[in-house]
Amino acid sequence: KIRGDQILLMAVLCLRDNVRSDAVETVNVLRKAGIQVVMVTGDAEETAVAIAKEAGIIEDEKTELALTHDEMEQMTDDELKEVLPKLRVVSRAKPLDKKRLVTLAQEREDVCGMTGDGVNDAPALKQADVTLDDITAIGVTYGPGLVGALLVGVAEAKAIAYARNLPLVGVHHIEGHVSANYIEHPDLEPPFLCAIVSGGHTHLVIVKDYGQFEILGRTRDDAAGEAFDKVARAIGLGYPGGPKIDKLAKEGNPDAIEFPRAKIGENPYDFSFSGVKSAVLNYLNGAKMKGEEVNRADIAASFQKAVVDVLVEHTMQAAADFGMKKVAIAGGVASNGALRTAMEKACTERGYKFYRPSPIFCTDNAAMIGVAAYYEYIRGTRHSWDLNAVPNLKLGER
Ligand code: KG4
Ligand code: ZN
Repeated sequence: KIRGDQILLMAVLCLRDNVRSDAVETVNVLRKAGIQVVMVTGDAEETAVAIAKEAGIIEDEKTELALTHDEMEQMTDDELKEVLPKLRVVSRAKPLDKKRLVTLAQEREDVCGMTGDGVNDAPALKQADVTLDDITAIGVTYGPGLVGALLVGVAEAKAIAYARNLPLVGVHHIEGHVSANYIEHPDLEPPFLCAIVSGGHTHLVIVKDYGQFEILGRTRDDAAGEAFDKVARAIGLGYPGGPKIDKLAKEGNPDAIEFPRAKIGENPYDFSFSGVKSAVLNYLNGAKMKGEEVNRADIAASFQKAVVDVLVEHTMQAAADFGMKKVAIAGGVASNGALRTAMEKACTERGYKFYRPSPIFCTDNAAMIGVAAYYEYIRGTRHSWDLNAVPNLKLGER
């Protein structure tokens, strides 16, 4: 930010105990460049105080504006705004009201740095029994998706990668879903056919190589998961609807109601799910007008069958046309029991090998992004510090 003849650096620093020496070095580099460094932390360990002392920013926290949470709580916004540029360290066990601080700092257009909430304590690292020292690269989803959610991940990934001097590897969300198949199937190698069915996407692709896709077909309207969610809402099940329909369908008759299977003109591999969704809504409306009770389990089972039939049919058609002997499914809807059973049966009948991730790796998860990042890393993909969220990132784009 340039104000007057000054350049102000506004930054969020994530400072952690086990990167303390790196943090001290970073602080020293910044100060040599004439940049004011302010530290704000909510950590119990008071990492920022320790780093500030080591970096020589403060000698005595008592006299050099190291405010406690309670002291700051009691200050008015104006008082806080006054004190912010003079602050050196704010630290105490209780979490700070970071939003208030950031807002006030922005109003002043002054420098404000702060720590986050425990990257090192991340349960995933603990569960895997590793620390950041064991990590080779940082992978992160940078698209497609909602920009707010993407930005949180990208900013965090950049901060960790920068602080640890690790390569940054941006990953396409859908490439992550496909890669979930590699987690438990070490024998699976491209090329193979993959039906990607999630809440936002329905794609039929040939995975030509790791991270290389030929898109055969896609949905023309609703994604498969979206149809599940909308129908679930219509029959009074909550969000996300997929798992609830899956469960309720087990008590229903899939042949009770004949919902339409959309046929699409030119491209035999494209999908359309808005028709079957509308048919369910019409069915419900019709019953309501006549004052008839509906059997929700039958609706769930019949709707699910209509979706599954189309997914299996198109996938088998593509497998035959392109001579694919390996078929995989991916995405949240791939955890659907009926889809897994039907796809497996169809593959077995034709002598194809069928792959699917465990349900926990079907819906959005970080493991699949890690695996996708692994293969991207191997093929040499590296992103620079200007990596940004790309809400409409295309599959196969880098
Ligand atoms: O892949 P995902 O976790 O998020 C996106 O990238 O969209 O997919 C979420 C979608 C939701 O629409 C959810 O209803 C659906 O996957 N889903 C299911 C099942 N579990 C999740 N759909 C059908 N059956 C399920 N068991
Ligand atoms: Zn997803």
